[in-house]
Amino acid sequence: MTNAYKIAILEGDGIGPEIMTQATRIFDVIQAHRDVAFELTITPFGAAAYFEHGKAFPEETKKVCDEADAILKGPVGLNHEESKKIPVEEQPERGAILPLRARFNTFANFRPIVLSKDMVHFSPLKPEIIENGIDILLIRELVGGLYFGEKERGTNEDGLRYVKETLEYNEEQIRQVLIVAFDQARQRKKKLHNIHKSNILMSSVLWNEVLDEVHKDYQDIEVIHVLVDAAATALCLNPGQFDVMVMENMFGDILSDQAGGILGSLGLMPSACIGPDKAYYEPSHGSAPDIAGQNIANPYSMIGSVAMMLEMSFDMKNEAQAVWTAMKSVFESGYSTADLSAGSESIKMVSTVEFGDMVVEQLDKLLGG
Ligand code: NAD
Ligand code: IPM
Ligand code: MN
Repeated sequence: MTNAYKIAILEGDGIGPEIMTQATRIFDVIQAHRDVAFELTITPFGAAAYFEHGKAFPEETKKVCDEADAILKGPVGLNHEESKKIPVEEQPERGAILPLRARFNTFANFRPIVLSKDMVHFSPLKPEIIENGIDILLIRELVGGLYFGEKERGTNEDGLRYVKETLEYNEEQIRQVLIVAFDQARQRKKKLHNIHKSNILMSSVLWNEVLDEVHKDYQDIEVIHVLVDAAATALCLNPGQFDVMVMENMFGDILSDQAGGILGSLGLMPSACIGPDKAYYEPSHGSAPDIAGQNIANPYSMIGSVAMMLEMSFDMKNEAQAVWTAMKSVFESGYSTADLSAGSESIKMVSTVEFGDMVVEQLDKLLGG
C-alpha cells in the first residue's frame, strides 16, 4: 500500500515563499520515483498571515498543523521598522513561532552544522583549522528557558520603566532533551559537549545535576563541559573538537547562528524541531528581508529541512541521503547562490530557482538510477 503523508506548508515571510517553492519540488521528485504520496497544504503563518487574517498563527492554520503528519515552515518576521506595524504580541516570532513550538511541544531542536571537506572554501575560517570539514550536531532545548518564562513590564516605585523575564526549567524539561542528546551521541562519536553557564546561572546548576543523573545510563559516552562563552570561541578556533553539543534555548539560538557564520552562510543551516507526537522543520535562519524577492536566497537550509523531515518523520533515510547528495553535487560542480559565491572568481553564481533546478535534476537522476 502506498504510504500517504499530509504535510502542512507554512511559507512564511521575506525569502520564505521563494525558498519554500524550491523545497516543495523535492516532494514531487520523490513521489515520481517511490511508492509514496505527499499531500501538501499551504496555510498562512507569520506577518503575512497577520495582515491578511489579523492573526500571525490563524485558527485555520492550527487545524491544518494538527491534522498534518509533519510541518514544513519557512522563516517568518519583518525588518525592524516594518515589525512596528504589528502589535508586539502578534509579531510573528512571539505570535506564531513560539505558539507553534508550544503547541507541539517540540522540545528538541536539531541544528546540524555540516560542511563537507570539499566545501570548506565557503567557510571564513582558515583552511588548516577545518581541513577535515565540519560535522557537528547542535541540540537546542526549544520550549523552555527565557523564551517561555513569565514576563512583566511596568513602572517601579522610583518611576522607572522596568522589565522582568524569567528563566525557568524543571528537571523533566532538562532530562528529556538531555536524553535525546545522549542518544545522538551514542549513534555518533560517543562524545557529548554540554554547554552551560553554571558559574553564574542556577538554571545551569540544575541542568548539570540532571545531566550527571542521566549520564549514569550512558556510561559509554564521554561528557565534556564547556562554558557557553568559551564555547563561542572554541567554535571558531577549533570546531573539530565538537561532535554533539547540547544546550538550553537561548544559548542554542545564539550559538547556532554563530555556527552559520563558520559555515559561511546561514543559508546552510536546516533544522528539525522534534516533539513527542509531531515534528516541524524549518531553516535556522530568519526571513532575510534584506534580500527578499530578489531570487538570490540560498534554498539549501529549506531543502535540507525537507531532507530532515524525510528521515526523521517518514523514516526515508535513503531518500534523505539522496537530497543531501544532490545538493552537494551542485556545490561540487562549482555553483552556489550569492551568499557563498560573492567575491569568488571560481564559484559560478546561480539564483534561488537555478539552484532548485539543479538539485531537482540531480535528485531525479539519483532516485531514477
Ligand atoms: P536573518 O537570518 O533573516 O538574516 C541574517 C543575514 O543572513 C542576512 O544578511 C540575510 O540576508 C542572510 N541570510 C539568511 N538566510 C539566508 C539564505 N537562505 N540565503 C542567503 N542569505 C541568507 O536574520 P535577521 O535579519 O536578524 O532577521 C530577519 C527576520 O527574521 C526578523 O524578523 C527575525 O525575527 C526573523 N527570524 C525568524 C526566524 C524563523 O522564522 N525561524 C529565525 C530567525 C530570525
Ligand atoms: C530561531 C529564531 C527564533 C528563535 C525566533 C525568530 C523566535 O531566531 O529559530 O533561531 O529565537 O528561536
Ligand atoms: Mn535564531
